[in-house]
Amino acid sequence: MPVDTSQFNVPNERRQATREADSSRPTILIVEDEAGPREALKLILRPFYNLHSVDSAEAALHLLKEQAVDLVTLDLKLPGKQGAELLQDIKREHEHVEVVVITGYGSLKSAMDGLRYGASGYLLKPFNVTELIAIINQSLEKKRRLEVLRDSLRQFENAWRMRQDTSSAWKTLSALLEAKDPELVRHSNRVHGYVTRLADRLSLTPEERELVRIGAWLHDIGKFGVEERLFSSIIRQADREDEFAKFHSEVGARMVQSLALPPAVGEIIRHHHERYDGSGYPDGLKGDEIPYLARLVGLANAFDELSAGRSQNDQLPLEAAKEYVRRQAGILFDPSMVKQFLKDLR
Ligand SMILES: [Fe+2]
Repeated sequence: MPVDTSQFNVPNERRQATREADSSRPTILIVEDEAGPREALKLILRPFYNLHSVDSAEAALHLLKEQAVDLVTLDLKLPGKQGAELLQDIKREHEHVEVVVITGYGSLKSAMDGLRYGASGYLLKPFNVTELIAIINQSLEKKRRLEVLRDSLRQFENAWRMRQDTSSAWKTLSALLEAKDPELVRHSNRVHGYVTRLADRLSLTPEERELVRIGAWLHDIGKFGVEERLFSSIIRQADREDEFAKFHSEVGARMVQSLALPPAVGEIIRHHHERYDGSGYPDGLKGDEIPYLARLVGLANAFDELSAGRSQNDQLPLEAAKEYVRRQAGILFDPSMVKQFLKDLR
């Protein structure tokens, strides 16, 4: 789809900006099969970034192996391998590279798929230059923040490897997260508290106890990787907010995937919103299909959301929250856990 370049007001001297790589600038790879839009993107982005451009998925993967790239702008409609498939390949093989999808054929489904497969932004053609630059810069900023977060998460990995208590790792990490979302840190602390007590009653092994404690602390970590403002209005609308928020469990699991934490931690994060009757997300798992430790964190998480939700209006009195959980035993929650959980609250 053609991009209307008449709206781009790029000064002449900028068009002549040097083509040599400047190490202080981020490097962007433009993946676009149509020459018109590709040249337009180069014209707009050249003053601010080091650029590479290719016209196919195969060329993109080849270039990513050879060159350090910070961000890819990706056209979804490519010859041969499709953009959505390329996005998955990029996130699998080069997870630190951010991807902004730019498409002329936007739909709710493709935007949701973009988010699911790890795109950090989504933009519709014909786009506006200011919006394009803003989304790219915010994605690069998010990349920097995630790198700091990932470094901090490595402390869990180290503590696990050295068989040490992970509480000090959580202290460092929560200091970092507190600045962005103090309520989320309080919620994680409460879920951790419930889970620790429940784990004592359920005769878990010492290793399982440590795993479920780490999982409880990190279960919502994906909320720091999901940013609505970087997505097009297709899914930014108020009524889509819930849909959008659901991606945090998949995003969080992906964030810890690159660490050498045990896979069980990733499973807890991915499946903490699954429900016993299969009505949860992201995979709609049922009963025993849901990993045991994820069921445990899921119950503690749901109870905390009921009894200490974000806004006062969402909160139920403690007795009502307990009654709700009791009634949902065998429906939303594992009945054997509910019994122990309620016993414990007494
Ligand atoms: Fe959650």
